[in-house]
Amino acid sequence: MGATCAQRIVEKGYADVVLVDIIEGLPQGKALDIQQSASVIGFDTRITGTNGYEETADSDIVVITSGIARKPGMSRDDLLRVNADIVSSVVRNVVKHSPECIIISVTNPCDAMTWLALRTSGFPRNRVFGLSGVLDGARFASFIADELKVSPKDVSPCIMGQHGEQMVVIPRLTTVKSKPLTELLPPDTIKRLVERTINGGAEIVGLLKTGSAFYAPSAAVARMAEAVVLDKKEVLCCAAYLEGEYGIRDTVLGVPVKLGRKGIEQIVEHKLTPDEKQALHSSAEAVRKLAEEMKLA
Ligand code: 2OP
Repeated sequence: MGATCAQRIVEKGYADVVLVDIIEGLPQGKALDIQQSASVIGFDTRITGTNGYEETADSDIVVITSGIARKPGMSRDDLLRVNADIVSSVVRNVVKHSPECIIISVTNPCDAMTWLALRTSGFPRNRVFGLSGVLDGARFASFIADELKVSPKDVSPCIMGQHGEQMVVIPRLTTVKSKPLTELLPPDTIKRLVERTINGGAEIVGLLKTGSAFYAPSAAVARMAEAVVLDKKEVLCCAAYLEGEYGIRDTVLGVPVKLGRKGIEQIVEHKLTPDEKQALHSSAEAVRKLAEEMKLA
């Protein structure tokens, strides 16, 4: 996941990348291999690999993918204990070497790990957010595009909430070239695509057997990082710490946020139906339960 993220970002040509891993030689070898593709792919940015943090000093953005991935039959929540220790240690090193950086948290369970990164770093909430709805939305868009035989680029998915079984997929606010999905597909088809989206990560874990997805997740992270580095003011759904938005306080949850050079520059609030609001609050409860296990809430 980390290496594919690094490859996608350095190939875009807007940022130099340092790839960090604890395994001796692994990040160095992968970085060297990616760097040697530069003349063929056509990028002038640099990627290096290291087993420490010195080379990462004063980074603008730090993407945290450290931790174990799911195996078939595991939920993201099953990764909590192991990954919480790993993320805490990584965040302490990140803060020491790049005290002004923006953290994009990817490690699962994503909402809880983002919350842990926010709390451990002591950074303001605009500088710590997580991968969630950009990935889930990409899956939903892919399934919709297949069903309607349209370009995935013409689909604007709307997904909020937990990056997990309690994610809140909102067909009413999902559009295809400005047309609401609910005008384009019958309810039973929409239900099938929603269920496949909720199960999207597990479907890939079940197929791969040895780990979880990394092509779509890494593309989603690169999109989030680009919005920050290029100060795009792009609205993307990310796991963010809420302070009353959507009627939810003191919880990290996937919501639409405007991303720019300062990180989260605004949390965008949609008018939700009572059912959608209820689903979002239940989703928040699921995240809070995990956070209580980590004594964050
Ligand atoms: C996924 O949904 C890894 O959580 C990530 O594939």
